[in-house]
Amino acid sequence: MFKIETAATAAYIIAALLFILALAGLSKHETSKAGNTFGIAGMAVALIATIALAVNRSISPLGLGLLVGAMIIGAAIGLWRARVVEMTGMPELIALLHSFVGLAAVLVGWNGYLDVENAPNSPEALKLAAEGMTGIHSAEVFVGVFIGAVTFTGSIVANLKLSARIKSAPLMLPGKNFLNIGALVVFFVLTVWFVIDPQLWLLVVVTVLALLLGWHLVASIGGGDMPVVVSMLNSYSGWAAAASGFLLGNDLLIITGALVGSSGAYLSYIMCKAMNRSFISVIAGGFGLEAGPSEDKDYGEHREITAEGAAELLGSADTVIITPGYGMAVAQAQYGVADLTRKLRDRGVNVRFGIHPVAGRLPGHMNVLLAEAKVPYDIVLEMDEINDDFDETSVVLVIGANDTVNPAAAEDPGSPIAGMPVLTVWNADNVIVFKRSMASGYAGVQNPLFFRENTQMLFGDARDRVNDILAAL
Ligand code: TAP
Repeated sequence: MFKIETAATAAYIIAALLFILALAGLSKHETSKAGNTFGIAGMAVALIATIALAVNRSISPLGLGLLVGAMIIGAAIGLWRARVVEMTGMPELIALLHSFVGLAAVLVGWNGYLDVENAPNSPEALKLAAEGMTGIHSAEVFVGVFIGAVTFTGSIVANLKLSARIKSAPLMLPGKNFLNIGALVVFFVLTVWFVIDPQLWLLVVVTVLALLLGWHLVASIGGGDMPVVVSMLNSYSGWAAAASGFLLGNDLLIITGALVGSSGAYLSYIMCKAMNRSFISVIAGGFGLEAGPSEDKDYGEHREITAEGAAELLGSADTVIITPGYGMAVAQAQYGVADLTRKLRDRGVNVRFGIHPVAGRLPGHMNVLLAEAKVPYDIVLEMDEINDDFDETSVVLVIGANDTVNPAAAEDPGSPIAGMPVLTVWNADNVIVFKRSMASGYAGVQNPLFFRENTQMLFGDARDRVNDILAAL
């Protein structure tokens, strides 16, 4: 006989495989669309199986109505947000979505407590007691609420920082590392206590403690480290979902949570390596805090160039490297940049792109924009692949990038971004920097590149200036 429970288990395995295929697909440009499709299919299978299970376990009509209603409202809001969000607004949207996962984990944890620890005679509690699993359940409740609450407030602060609604500078409470470690120790002690004697006030205390810890953890991390924070919160949200999976006895949620948790952790590791930072020091905060001695330096005068001058320089160049950054995304200059690339290549100029791993505001930001504008993949190179070629390059166009091409990172040990690997654009014969002013980049650090002898500034909106160069060519 056809059993819904068996079918749902099979569907969960299929969904889990689809999620793994989605992750594999998303790791390369060429397969990323297929990866997305696998992810959507996996989620559809999971939702159908979950609803079928709920119906089979005789969910009340009210419960079913609430479930479907919530899904429709959630899907409508999700579709709307995804359609209107700008590429530049993606990180803060992602941070906001992580906060929902965190909140859901807190609610699931609290619900678990009300169902079992708070109602020792409920069928669920009696079943767990008969299996000798009550202690495990209590631990799951406590850990799930803790991770969820940290993720919740941490993600809200990340959202506020990334959308510039609060300052991105790190909050520097005295003894901040002590506060973080202290909170972890208290959490550990309270967990043991709760497992032995699951009282409501312990759950209240851990919820408040974790909400404060999440807030403090992210508030004390400064501008330049925010990309790592976003992927770290992504990882936390995965572990929060996995914790909910244990509580709800839902294997798919455990698998999916573990996939998100571990891939987010790995992404954080890759980004830390790209920025030459240790994961621990990022968590402990402190990047971009003091302005450092470099801020007081007088770098002299900068030189300016016109679009016509830039066109002339490009016209006589053999090799050009374009290093885009966040400003290219803001100006939506990628289409003009793609036209310029085509035009120069038609004239026999060797044009390539150098992509810094944290250029823009989210991993792969530049690659996505360039792919969208149909720039061929084979001329878009990673920082490590292109960094040795700058000294044989006639012209570098720095389009709306700043921190990622800052020589202070390589040369000034006192700089707040010291040690972060950067694109060594200053080794080229000529550097043209497209930006609107002399303002600093995301990390808030002055950039000595702008004052070098081989650098000229091309001020204005990057899209307008690229179009001017196209017209002049
Ligand atoms: P930034 O250092 O942020 O510099 C971008 C530059 O673009 C600014 O100096 C700005 O100067 C210029 N700009 C802005 N709008 C422009 C426009 N319409 N036309 C021309 N120029 C414009 O960018 P980056 O070099 O890409 O470095 C990325 C930074 O963001 C790093 O510090 C990184 O750690 C951080 N971050 C990265 C991520 C990820 S995962 N990639 C996530 C969050 C944060 P003006 O204002 O003078 O025009």
